[in-house]
Amino acid sequence: MITGRTVVAGVAGNPVAHSLSPLIHNAWLAKAGVDGVYVAFSPPADGFRRFAEGLRGGAVRGLNVTVPFKEDAFALADRLSPRAKAAGAVNLLVFEADGTIAGDNTDGEGLLGALARQAGFDPTSGPAVILGAGGAARGAATTLAAAGSPEVRIVNRTLARAEAIAGLADGVAFPLDKVAAALDGAAVVINATTAGLSGQAALDVPLGRAPDHAVVMDMVYKPLVTPFLQQARDRGLRTVDGLEMLIRQAAPSFEAFFGRPPPQDVDVRGLALAALEG
Ligand code: ATR
Repeated sequence: MITGRTVVAGVAGNPVAHSLSPLIHNAWLAKAGVDGVYVAFSPPADGFRRFAEGLRGGAVRGLNVTVPFKEDAFALADRLSPRAKAAGAVNLLVFEADGTIAGDNTDGEGLLGALARQAGFDPTSGPAVILGAGGAARGAATTLAAAGSPEVRIVNRTLARAEAIAGLADGVAFPLDKVAAALDGAAVVINATTAGLSGQAALDVPLGRAPDHAVVMDMVYKPLVTPFLQQARDRGLRTVDGLEMLIRQAAPSFEAFFGRPPPQDVDVRGLALAALEG
């Protein structure tokens, strides 16, 4: 039921039509009986600022922000949380009644929550290896460093980009052809590259060089079991999927929009899996 008091929130991305966030948030809203709605917005690729500026004052309570607008949202926010500053990106904007815009980043919370939930992973337990050096990798590296990882290793095709992130996360940079050395003693290996997306070849990572206790995660959730995760399973390693990260970054966003945590007793993962398969 949409009423005269319905609180509006949403996600902005381009493209955004396949986002699972509306499904997740609206399932939580329905179960909690909150008078709210969560919709998808697709501003033009060069039009995020104009779109979001128009929401000042709070006609829309807040937005999740996804590809390609996380850096635009970072630049737009009047205030940034420490974790958004560290990530250099914003995935959550809140439009305050006084006209200001607050920027936050819940992706790191999603990452750590997924690792804990699906693998019981403790970031202090050993070195973290991050594959890639784009925005997703930066967020993962700064999150793991802040969570007490003893060493963050960034592996990237373009070494200079890995070095830039290593500088931010007090980590170590490796070129892709030295990935085997980076895997030595790793507690967790996270794919934050876009290789393997849209029919490209997946990264060829010698996971046999990782220890038996290593946890392997992919930030991509389509397909749920990526070739990278399948390779980890074939090797007998524990895996964590990107869908769990998506759900876990959504929970603090829901609370920011609607003033209460999401209800526990909704199988949003099952709903999302059904949508992914459909
Ligand atoms: P995002 O901001 O979403 O993380 P991005 O900035 O486009 O995305 O970064 C994509 C990452 O995937 C980069 O680390 C990229 O490596 P380069 O920095 O060398 O470009 C990596 N990547 C993409 N395709 C790749 C491929 N085929 N092989 C190896 N790395 C790849």
